[in-house]
Amino acid sequence: MEKFIIEKSSPLKGEITIDGAKNAVLPIIASTILTGEKCIIENAPFLKDVEIMLKILEVLGAKTSFCEKEKRIAIDCRKISNVPLPYELVKKLRASFLFAGPLLSRFGKVNIQMPGGCPIGIRPVDLHLKGFSMLGAKIKQEHGNIEIISQGVKGNNIYLDFPSVGATENIIMAAVLAEGETNISNCSVEPEIVDLAEFLNKMGAYIYGAGTDSIKIIGVPEVYGAVHSIIPDRIEAGTFMIGAVITKGDLIIKNIICDHLRPVIAKLKDMNVDVEENENSIRVHSENELINTDVKTLPFPGFPTDMQAQFMSLMAVTKGTGIINETIFENRFMHVGELNRMGADIKVESKSAIIKGVPKLTGTQVKATDLRAGAALILSALVAEGETEISDIYHIERGYCNIEEKIRKLGGKIKKTEE
Ligand code: EPZ
Repeated sequence: MEKFIIEKSSPLKGEITIDGAKNAVLPIIASTILTGEKCIIENAPFLKDVEIMLKILEVLGAKTSFCEKEKRIAIDCRKISNVPLPYELVKKLRASFLFAGPLLSRFGKVNIQMPGGCPIGIRPVDLHLKGFSMLGAKIKQEHGNIEIISQGVKGNNIYLDFPSVGATENIIMAAVLAEGETNISNCSVEPEIVDLAEFLNKMGAYIYGAGTDSIKIIGVPEVYGAVHSIIPDRIEAGTFMIGAVITKGDLIIKNIICDHLRPVIAKLKDMNVDVEENENSIRVHSENELINTDVKTLPFPGFPTDMQAQFMSLMAVTKGTGIINETIFENRFMHVGELNRMGADIKVESKSAIIKGVPKLTGTQVKATDLRAGAALILSALVAEGETEISDIYHIERGYCNIEEKIRKLGGKIKKTEE
């Protein structure tokens, strides 16, 4: 298995252009099932998760192509059939469950495996299934297999007990071709929901209120091919912002939407970091002594749980003590053990981590336990004394495009080796 070998690096300096958002492109790929016409997705990130979603579409009979150089995906679902999704691919990523809504909408029947838990939590799909049954579907679950059948999806009013991102996306996609109107309240307001709704509306759907906590979908008989450019990845942008600060560097991060980064900008400013916003770029540097802070992860527009691990790396080497309260996932502190192996001083008590800043970390062998934990370890390794070896880097490559090349261009000492 491949590893990253990282040495203590000089401050990261220069410019970095952010790729399209993983968590926007994945539901948009799933939604192309809704039409028999060709769809083009621009500014698509070339990620492992994207490759797997396209492979699943091909098993269904779709034609897909991904031109990495042009960052363009073409998908034609004209000839798809409703075969059961391949478990060996479904189990690789949670987002595969996002095929359920569009398949229910197009075929009235879905046969899909529970995508299984992942390191950061059990990640049930009860809110997705509740939404489908509110739209008139019958749900049968047996030994991890889920069968969803409807005699035609009918619009309804749906209240989500929790503003689940995936459940909001799946219910929207299930409701697009429904008979009548669907209102989803207490839904997710993440930017990725807005991007999905924009793509669906370009296809001819009628979706109102995306980005607010109540969304209306007026069902239409058919939707058509569309072209759409994916929003920038706010989590990749946030990760490089931390990279600038933790290495005492100076980065200009381009192709971003500052409004998607408000909580990260605010918390960095609390720590005495200089953040200069421009039209679609941001400059991050800090000559001042940093002050530790507290973070509570919340659904958007709160502090993103997907930035929690990366922020912890920065807090671990910042003077003073800070507390992180992780309210979204029940097991998203696995990077604590790895950071402590590098000399960090972090204690976990239930859903909170108490981080006591230490003057330095020391390189050693560590393991990426999940995608964002892996990114956090890269950030820590860039400032740790000596050499750090990160294994299980496939987690990281699921969500970051050519991360080692991007970091090397900014002065980071990182290379990939075969184990
Ligand atoms: C999306 O996951 C993202 N993934 C996650 O990003 C992100 O951390 C998460 O939203 C929260 O922002 C994609 O978009 C592909 P949720 P999702 O449904 O949709 C519970 C990354 O690092 N829940 O909002 O699965 C669930 O267990 C990944 O890029 C239920 O209880 O997140 C969790 O505790 C990690 N029942 C909470 O809600 C349900 O039916 C948030 O989950 C659904 C969710």
